[in-house]
Parts: sequence; structure tokens; C-alpha cells
Amino acid sequence: MTVGAALARAAAVLGDAGIATARLDAELLLRHLAGWDAAALIVRSNDELPHETLDRFEQLVAERARRRPLQHLTGVAHFWRHEFRVTPDVLIPRPETEHLVEAALEWMRPFERPVVVDVGTGSGSIALSLAAERPDAIVHAVDLSPAALAIASHNAARLGLGERVHFHEGDLLAPMRGHTVDLIASNPPYVGADEVEALAPEVRDHDPRTALVPPGGDRFSIYRRLATGGRDVLRPGGALMVEIGQGMEGEVSRIFEAAGFRVERVIRDLQSIPRVVIASAPGRGNSTRSGTS
Ligand SMILES: C[S@@+](CC[C@H](N)C(=O)[O-])C[C@H]1O[C@@H](n2cnc3c(N)ncnc32)[C@H](O)[C@@H]1O
Repeated sequence: MTVGAALARAAAVLGDAGIATARLDAELLLRHLAGWDAAALIVRSNDELPHETLDRFEQLVAERARRRPLQHLTGVAHFWRHEFRVTPDVLIPRPETEHLVEAALEWMRPFERPVVVDVGTGSGSIALSLAAERPDAIVHAVDLSPAALAIASHNAARLGLGERVHFHEGDLLAPMRGHTVDLIASNPPYVGADEVEALAPEVRDHDPRTALVPPGGDRFSIYRRLATGGRDVLRPGGALMVEIGQGMEGEVSRIFEAAGFRVERVIRDLQSIPRVVIASAPGRGNSTRSGTS
């Protein structure tokens, strides 16, 4: 079978499985398997695929049709400017989380040697993206899961950032006791227990449940704990910056303000969903703008 025919067949199989990005996924799987770039797929469209490659490709397509995430089949996810190794032990980093990275970089711009902590680092996507952009920053990354921290450390080494990011196993801000930080960045678990069934199968059945759902299934519980714990580690005027799920901005803002923070800004994602809440700790002000953007 030619490359073009194999791709067309794979795209049809994935389309029938309800995958909206069927053709793209088929192309990415074949590229991963053959080690080709996008141009090679076009140039080789009429070439015969070796039997072995075709067999392996069809196995991967069948796995994907069972809604295993593409990133688990290729072993990598792209986030910010980097490629991250991902396994079922870590949440696959999402494009909407790049808004948090962008906001954190903007917030840090006026400061030299900012101290940052990424709470719930998973694959290390936020901490490592920040460390790569800001060579002067002191970056900490915390996770409760030793398996996730092993992947994050592996990613740090791959990106040449192994010496730059300090990884800590522990519960939220507990490992930061005794430190003073300028910025807390976090994409915590925020899916309610009653929302899990409605998630896409790739997320519901393959992302770690502890990365999605907070203990007790209360989607606001971690924000409450970050607000109270954040007061103890942030310097006056330091920032607490969190990703939120749809419809959570009002309650998260109330939680932060009740804990003494001032909500500076809520950032919307590309679908116009409020996605990042930025709040400043009591004390000296900072340079963030007010309002929703
Ligand atoms: C939604 S994932 C975010 C992963 C990564 N930061 C990202 O944005 O792709 C949440 C992460 O928080 C971790 N986590 C959950 N509860 C935690 C806790 N109490 N303390 C520290 N980490 C926790 C999970 O293990 C998971 O890696």
C-alpha cells in the first residue's frame, strides 16, 4: 500500500472513531513511526510503505481509534517552545496553559532573579518553560506524585535545565515552607467529581485522575488551600497565578479576596473562556493591569 493510501485509510478509521483531527493524527502517527517531517509525507505519497511499517502503523491507528491519546502513542507533547516527554503518569500539557506561562513571564519582566514556584508541575511544562525563558529565575516545582516528578526531571535534563529547576515532592506549598517567593504559578486539578463522565475519553480514561480531580471532588478546594498557603510564602505584592476551568472565575476571585489577595486580572483563552486568575498578595503593589482581557 502506498503512503497516501495508508494515510487515507487511517484517517477514515479515526474519523469513524469520532476523532475530529483524524487526518492530522494519522499524519503525526506515521511521521513519528517513520521519523519523517511533514514534507516527506507529500514527497513520498506514491511510495510503497514497507510491510513492517504498515503493520506497526495500523496497530497505532487502532490504538488511537480506541481513543488512546496521540501523545501517549508518540510519547511527546508540544508546549510553549518545547517538546515534553509524557506518559500516563502526567497530565498531557494543554495549549490553554500557555496563557499562564505568558502571563507569568509578563509579570516577572520588571524583576531580576525572580523566585517562582510551579505547584502541581506534572510533566514540568510550566516550570521548565519559565526557566528556559528566564535564565536568571530561581524556579521550584512541586508535585505530590513521585512518578510525575521523575518525568519532569527527565524533561528538565532533556531541555538542559536539570541544574536550574528545584523539584520537590510534597503537598502544594508545604515544601516551600521557609522560602519567600515572588510568584506562585499553578494549574491545579479542578474537575468536579460530577464532571468526569462528560470529559473526552482521552482525558477521562488516560490523564491521571489525581491530576484532574481534587480530593473529595470539590473543584475549588485547591484554590482555597493555595490562597491560605500562598499568604505564608509570597512576598508582599507577590503574585498568585492560577489556571481555572470554565465558569470558575467568580468563585476563585472571591476565595482569593477573602484570603486578603487583590484580584488584578483575569485572562481569557482563545475561546474567550476566563482561564487565568492573577492575584497579588497583601502589601506592596505590582505592575499587573486591572480588569479582564
Ligand atoms: C492539572 S495537572 C497540571 C500539570 C502541569 N502543571 C500542566 O499544566 O500540564 C495537576 C498536577 O498537580 C498534582 N497535584 C495534585 N494534587 C497535588 C497536591 N496536593 N500537591 C502537589 N501536587 C498536586 C498532580 O499530581 C498533577 O501533576
